[in-house]
Amino acid sequence: MPGDGIGPEVMTEVRKVIAWLAEHRDVHFDVSEDLVGGAAYDVHGVPLHDDTMAKAQAADAVLLGAVGGPKYDTLDFSLKPERGLLRLRKEMDLFANLRPAQCFDALADFSSLKRDVVAGLDIVIVRELTSGSYFGEPRGIFKEGNERVGINTHRYTESEIERAARAAFELARRRSNRVCSMEKANVMEAGVLWRDVVTEVHQADYADVELSHMYADNGAMQLVRAPKQFDVILTDNLFGDILSDCAAMLTGSLGMLPSASLGAPMENGRPKALYEPVHGSAPDIAGQGKANPTACVLSFAMALRYSFDLGAEATRIETAVEKVLADGVRTADLLQAEGDTAVSTTQMGDAIVAALTASL
Ligand code: NAI
Ligand code: MG
Repeated sequence: MPGDGIGPEVMTEVRKVIAWLAEHRDVHFDVSEDLVGGAAYDVHGVPLHDDTMAKAQAADAVLLGAVGGPKYDTLDFSLKPERGLLRLRKEMDLFANLRPAQCFDALADFSSLKRDVVAGLDIVIVRELTSGSYFGEPRGIFKEGNERVGINTHRYTESEIERAARAAFELARRRSNRVCSMEKANVMEAGVLWRDVVTEVHQADYADVELSHMYADNGAMQLVRAPKQFDVILTDNLFGDILSDCAAMLTGSLGMLPSASLGAPMENGRPKALYEPVHGSAPDIAGQGKANPTACVLSFAMALRYSFDLGAEATRIETAVEKVLADGVRTADLLQAEGDTAVSTTQMGDAIVAALTASL
């Protein structure tokens, strides 16, 4: 689902990678394309058509570009492009949001932190996505005596914590086998339960994984002080929102950041899954060939790894991106010095494909 703005532009570059895999690696995907966001509203009058929703539910994985744009700002809340994305996440019950923060060596000087602190960084934040402060009831703004009171409820059930924890432990087993769980058990009961349930799941089924706990505020400090101490960070929806944005910025541009959102296993054993770049539709650069397609390409690589057991091909794509950056190929968002020249979206995609071919 390419979506809006730069979504279709970056998706075009992913198609090149898909074609390359078919031609050179004998890996073939049954790809169908559909509308989401403003693009769907323009045709169907809704940001996600029921038929599209059904196709998403039946797919092994959904890859989404981005949604939104100023053209749709005045629409009723229920028709806004973002609602299409929210519907996908909700109906597919995508409870585990995976946000990698990986620092490609060639971009280490692009970080706001010192090169030593971030070079070689490779961590993933697993954020619980469907519960906690953003969903708990009661919520609202109420009148209390002669003043207003704003209420949100930080609510977590055991089963919600358990499934997020399992997702983090499973992920850790595919990586360096370490999970650090973050909450505020010192001041929040929901945090105490979080720590208890994560510990129980660990003891019962994942004793081989190294588990540690940290208060989320300390976690924020550690992320900017010494981020390489982590492998997988497991945290709730609210803390995860903030910690994942913080971790993401350690590595530089939005144009580089992929994500995955995973749900319960389907009949074929694969998790329901939606892959998308972290960035939005970037209306300021849409239609100009300036978008960096890397975030979407890396999101597709995550799909290969987590939905199709093609980890080696995923690594091949990540290595190709690394090589392209090392060769100095930069889209406009990655320019550092005055006088550097930028390549277009298409040229970046072509460079990644050329690096793939060179890897054979
Ligand atoms: P944005 O991520 O679209 O853009 C923020 C800034 O980063 C802009 O200056 C943009 O040009 C730049 N940028 C983003 N992606 C880039 C890429 N691949 N290559 C080069 N530069 C890139 O966020 P913004 O401006 O807050 O939102 C724009 C629209 O996107 C809004 O309608 C918003 O609701 C929507 N949005 C959609 C998301 C999604 O589909 N998941 C996520 C965030 C925003
Ligand atoms: Mg956020």
